[in-house]
Amino acid sequence: MDYQLKHVLITGANEGIGKATAMALAKKGFAVIMACRNMEKAEAALAEIKNGSGNSNIELLPLDLSDLNSVQKAARLYRERYTRLDVLLNNAGIITSVLEKTAQGFERQFGVNHLGHYLLTRLLLDMVQAAPEPRIVNVSSHLHYRRKLDFGTLRGENADSYDGINAYGQSKLANILFTRELARRYPGIACNALHPGVVRTRFGNKPGSFYSPFWTLFKPFLVTVEKGARTSVLLASDASVAGVTGKYFWPRMGARYPSRTAQNQELALQLWDWSEEAVKEWLV
Ligand SMILES: NC(=O)c1ccc[n+]([C@@H]2O[C@H](COP(=O)([O-])OP(=O)(O)OC[C@H]3O[C@@H](n4cnc5c(N)ncnc54)[C@H](OP(=O)(O)O)[C@@H]3O)[C@@H](O)[C@H]2O)c1
Repeated sequence: MDYQLKHVLITGANEGIGKATAMALAKKGFAVIMACRNMEKAEAALAEIKNGSGNSNIELLPLDLSDLNSVQKAARLYRERYTRLDVLLNNAGIITSVLEKTAQGFERQFGVNHLGHYLLTRLLLDMVQAAPEPRIVNVSSHLHYRRKLDFGTLRGENADSYDGINAYGQSKLANILFTRELARRYPGIACNALHPGVVRTRFGNKPGSFYSPFWTLFKPFLVTVEKGARTSVLLASDASVAGVTGKYFWPRMGARYPSRTAQNQELALQLWDWSEEAVKEWLV
């Protein structure tokens, strides 16, 4: 890896928006580290991105966000292999109607979409801070609107009344609250969240999920992955947003207000503390 190039780590880069973002940033000359769970798919995506971009500075990093041991291992491996991290792009995510748990017993959507990324970010923060123009980008969703953060459900305690969309929206609300608190604590890093649009990926097509047939039906009308990646690429690389921090972006519209709950500073702090306590064993 050419250490002179800006380094971007993208989670969930083996398909969908993450893969399109990796391709776009590779074309812009970034060294791209694709942090992925399914390594078979990741190998294929790696080859495609190298060919399509003509950039050979692209590598894979094994990462399963549903297991804090894997997150810790990935962060350690990153530190062993690389000397810089300019942009951390927390993109990976899941949506499902089925209540499942992470390896450590957290509700899976919250665990993958927020908690795994929280730990990854904390473990790599000093490297990001040391970059000349550091950025952290968190991929959230418009489905955070009208959601609340119920700390009593984050370990799946509400099994009898589990509502997948609500749990997804809660995890995406957590992405914005986390961004807000990160931006407050680390003013030297440009930390922003975004809604990518409603994008034609396999996102809603997960085995066993109630949403899968609906997703298939609407998919032809959704925007392409290339369009879906634009806001991530903007926030990761564009000079026009250098120094902008703590914001929530929409495609083509720039910074927009997230929900009132997502602007609640006290809640952002509460989530930070809760998350820190939940991952403290792995924060080393
Ligand atoms: N598509 C949309 O319309 C839409 C709208 C709003 C927000 N978003 C957000 O956009 C982001 C990307 O979604 P997408 O549409 O590109 O979905 P996608 O095509 O399903 O891609 C999701 C990515 O996340 C990875 N991932 C899932 N679980 C993981 C885990 N435990 N550890 C590591 N990686 C994991 C997947 O890897 P595997 O191959 O291992 O499953 C895949 O690479 C998500 O955060 C989503 O919430 C999407």
